[in-house]
Amino acid sequence: MSKININKSWKYDEALESKSHINLKDKYNLFIDGEFVKPLSRKYFKTINPATNESISEIAEANEKDVDLAVKSARKAFKSWSKLDPKERAKYIFRIARMIQERAKEFAVIESLNGGKPIRESRDIDIPLAANHFFYYAGWADKLEYAFPNKVPKPLGVAGQIIPWNFPLLMAAWKIAPAIACGNTVVLKPAETTSLTALKLAELIKDSGLPKGVVNIVTGAGKTGAAIVNHPDINKIAFTGSTEVGKLIERSLAGIEKKTTLELGGKGANIIFEDAAIDQAVEGIVNAIFFNQGHVCCAGSRLFIQASVADTVIEKLKDRISTLIVGDPLDKNTDIGAINSVEQLNTIEKYIEIGKKEGGEIYQTECSLPKKGNWCPPTLFLNVSQSHTIVKEEIFGPVLAIQTFRTIDEVIEKANNSPFGLSAGVWTEKGSKIFKLTKELNAGVVWANTYNKFDPCSPFGGFKESGMGREGGLHGLKSYIKFE
Ligand code: NAI
Ligand code: MG
Repeated sequence: MSKININKSWKYDEALESKSHINLKDKYNLFIDGEFVKPLSRKYFKTINPATNESISEIAEANEKDVDLAVKSARKAFKSWSKLDPKERAKYIFRIARMIQERAKEFAVIESLNGGKPIRESRDIDIPLAANHFFYYAGWADKLEYAFPNKVPKPLGVAGQIIPWNFPLLMAAWKIAPAIACGNTVVLKPAETTSLTALKLAELIKDSGLPKGVVNIVTGAGKTGAAIVNHPDINKIAFTGSTEVGKLIERSLAGIEKKTTLELGGKGANIIFEDAAIDQAVEGIVNAIFFNQGHVCCAGSRLFIQASVADTVIEKLKDRISTLIVGDPLDKNTDIGAINSVEQLNTIEKYIEIGKKEGGEIYQTECSLPKKGNWCPPTLFLNVSQSHTIVKEEIFGPVLAIQTFRTIDEVIEKANNSPFGLSAGVWTEKGSKIFKLTKELNAGVVWANTYNKFDPCSPFGGFKESGMGREGGLHGLKSYIKFE
């Protein structure tokens, strides 16, 4: 097999994205009732650039009273927003989408600065997809009766929305767009490590002229999130994050009349059959686990290769990952950026240690890592089985657990033997195998001969400990309406 050998024969010059066009404040307040207001808590915390661990800005920490103000503002706005002609609602949402496109470059750079993801990804995936979600749901706003024929769809009221740090602006779009398209108003909390693009979105929303209080953005950590979950005047909770917090939320809302959707963790099976186009499959494996440093709930973190092609696939995979560049998120050459936080790096490193201790054979590339900041090289684990901790638990980092299989039934059994059920990938030339697997794999999304493809039109969500409810597409509307 001929080696790719890019790093040795080609040298890359730096291709840094400029920061000159971005506009960041030293301090950010809460966005309540259409204005930026100081937190009643009077507390602020630092938001960090994970590539340097230096502070970028200070962010307000909302307490229960701040959350209460945000909910009151959303409740007040609901009266008129829910009665507004749906065509007019659509125009506002459409305008937000257009403005995200206009400011895309600024959003992309801030997303990479604050979250550590490669600029190529924030520029080509996160920000355009966020705009697409607003476009898509703007389209539904005045067509809800067609989405649900013979029924009269009504908004729920105030939605409390809590999002994670792996796709900050995109998750804000997933949450806000369908909610307000259906006539609800929202109180959204971004994750504590990555609040900046949500706050920039707040500025954009203010500029868009969206009526005050329709979207409120409060910042803070778990305590602020809990204040939203437990607020008595919220009609719906939408959460994306860890299974641990998802379970907590479920427990605190048991018996209470609040609609909930939960998008939680995953341990996606990526399955390579012997008849697959091997080179494409290797690209698919790389994209499935190393996209966004592996901070992806639907990451293909369990690889299953049919035994007859295992040696070839593994050799090609090792060769391919030797070309991956880990480094400055703002460099356009970068494939793997910074790990989002020191805490997350500790979690990943803890799992790598467990993997080694339990007898897994580790393979890491010899890429050079920057001195400052949080970094993890692309990591493979061979010689692991279903009972290994790193095969069972979500790591949320660039760490792939590799197993082999012989028969189709064996791989279905192994893939489904997981507490999660969010995503899977199937690589084969045979349509019949694809149909069998999409039917029998217990996963909300199954990609065939591709991986990590997202589109606002398709529903996304999981089974079992991966959560409940769907976001995206027509299904995503259902979580924000009731029928009279
Ligand atoms: P997390 O679940 O604690 O954080 C997600 C969001 O929930 C953040 O906005 C956070 O402030 C908020 N939150 C935390 N505690 C809360 C509470 N008691 N009530 C309401 N909101 C609360 O996730 P964390 O600790 O940052 O990451 C831990 C692990 O979770 C990761 O290693 C990964 O395995 C998984 N995770 C999965 C995500 C997904 O997309 N499914 C996203 C983020 C993390
Ligand atoms: Mg947590």
